[in-house]
Amino acid sequence: MDSNLNRKKVTILDLAAKKRNSEPITMLTAYDYTGALLVDAAEIDTILIGDSLGMVMMGLESTVPVTMEEMLHHCRAVARGAKYAYLIGDLPFLSYQVSVSEAVQNAGRLLKEGNVDSVKLEGGHEMVETVRAIVAAGIPVMGHIGLTPQSVSKLGGYRTQGRTAAAARQLLDDALALEEAGCYAIVLEAVPAPVAKVITERLKVPTIGIGAGPDCDGQVLVYHDILGLYDKIQPKFVKQYATLSPIIKEAFSSYRDDVLKRDFPAQEHSFSMNAEELETFQKSLEE
Ligand code: KIV
Repeated sequence: MDSNLNRKKVTILDLAAKKRNSEPITMLTAYDYTGALLVDAAEIDTILIGDSLGMVMMGLESTVPVTMEEMLHHCRAVARGAKYAYLIGDLPFLSYQVSVSEAVQNAGRLLKEGNVDSVKLEGGHEMVETVRAIVAAGIPVMGHIGLTPQSVSKLGGYRTQGRTAAAARQLLDDALALEEAGCYAIVLEAVPAPVAKVITERLKVPTIGIGAGPDCDGQVLVYHDILGLYDKIQPKFVKQYATLSPIIKEAFSSYRDDVLKRDFPAQEHSFSMNAEELETFQKSLEE
């Protein structure tokens, strides 16, 4: 019996309903077809094709150099694998900050060419005009405030945000401004839990936390972090649900050993040939 028989694709309305009904929203990043199949099979509500792919898939030091073409490539791959999850494509650095019209163009490309359902962008009140224009074009926008990795240089590192009363107030004002501009949800990254709680209570749209405590309407983690595949940066807020790196390394070493010992491929991995054809073939070699 197909367990997906009654499963429907998650929509923006389902996410709003979850907030109304106090049901947690689940979100994970994914960056390729196989990863998307796995996340979708786990019935995660939403998949973010995050620009974190620059770090975990491409080995970059930050998300800053990630391009639109790279985002499109990964969005398309995820969209081929995920049939049910609501898909969010990250707008990369400088694809939406230079001008509002460029932001609308690039957001549209993520939908038209990347096959995602919505876009995410970083920033607070300074993004209001941009959010309004993208939403007016019919493209749902998820906001992202707190630790905004594209501004790592301005922030002076990957640090918790909103720790002073004034900074916390600014975060709340930013969240309210983004909601007012039309964002359907807002990511809160590396924000003290009590601040995230207040923001979540004051907003009508869902908050999705990453390092923002238990009171957000949903939670997101990075694919490689939850699986123990990336250890260059290990933020306090990550919970590792599996430690796959040593298992994968062990599999690669076993394969290497088998090849060196000629234990692989065994007969079951090899193709045989009709005996008569083989004999004819061998005879042909003597001619
Ligand atoms: O790029 C990303 O993966 C993100 C999440 C950390 C929210 O923006």
